[in-house]
Amino acid sequence: MNDDLQELGERFSQIADQYDDIHTSDEKPIYNACATRVIEGANPIPDDVVLDLGTGTGLIALALAEDAGVVLGRDISDGMLATAAAKAADNGFENVEFGYGEFHDPNIDEDIDIVVSNFALHHLPDEQKREAIATIGALTPQRFVLGDAMFFGSPTPDEPLFDHGVDAATVGTLVDVLTDEGFVITAVERVHDQVGVLIAEHRGDTPSGTRNAPFDK
Ligand SMILES: C[S@@+](CC[C@H](N)C(=O)[O-])C[C@H]1O[C@@H](n2cnc3c(N)ncnc32)[C@H](O)[C@@H]1O
Repeated sequence: MNDDLQELGERFSQIADQYDDIHTSDEKPIYNACATRVIEGANPIPDDVVLDLGTGTGLIALALAEDAGVVLGRDISDGMLATAAAKAADNGFENVEFGYGEFHDPNIDEDIDIVVSNFALHHLPDEQKREAIATIGALTPQRFVLGDAMFFGSPTPDEPLFDHGVDAATVGTLVDVLTDEGFVITAVERVHDQVGVLIAEHRGDTPSGTRNAPFDK
């Protein structure tokens, strides 16, 4: 792990105890709207192996574990991972595994059906986002659901929603990169002018009809 990642991971470890209280509260309506759409968009079936990259305290991973076969949560922050694992144990989840993994090296041996990532990719500059999406593409998941800060309008908004630590890309850049890395975009959900959810299906997907459509319960 490089020094920057280590420092970022430690910063998240320091707030791991408070993260869920803040992020599931009324203080964070945009985060919560985005998280809900990511969960609905992933829409796993019981055989699915789901990878949650930048899983944090596992808010998305544990929600998906209700329906998925297996959920693997990967993150660089020991503190966030410890909180996630404690929640999984407290709530009796036996189909979730949390461990160290980076966007560029997710530490995965399994075949992955669905990759999700919520509010984490923005930590990477655009060139590294491309490398991360290439790594995800190489896993050939049937579906990739990306929720994050992203610009639907100007990349230099008059009223930025986020300040430090958020290096959002434009929706156009993300769509271009996803397309280059073997995905077809099947849904673009605008949560806010600076936040959205992209659903991408990998080309060479399994025949249609074998899985849930996104958002379709
Ligand atoms: C804002 S939190 C989001 C957590 C969770 N996805 C959620 O929706 O609540 C961002 C997470 O991304 C993780 N992260 C940042 N850079 C990462 C990287 N390069 N690889 C893996 N995880 C990373 C951080 O450690 C942190 O836990």
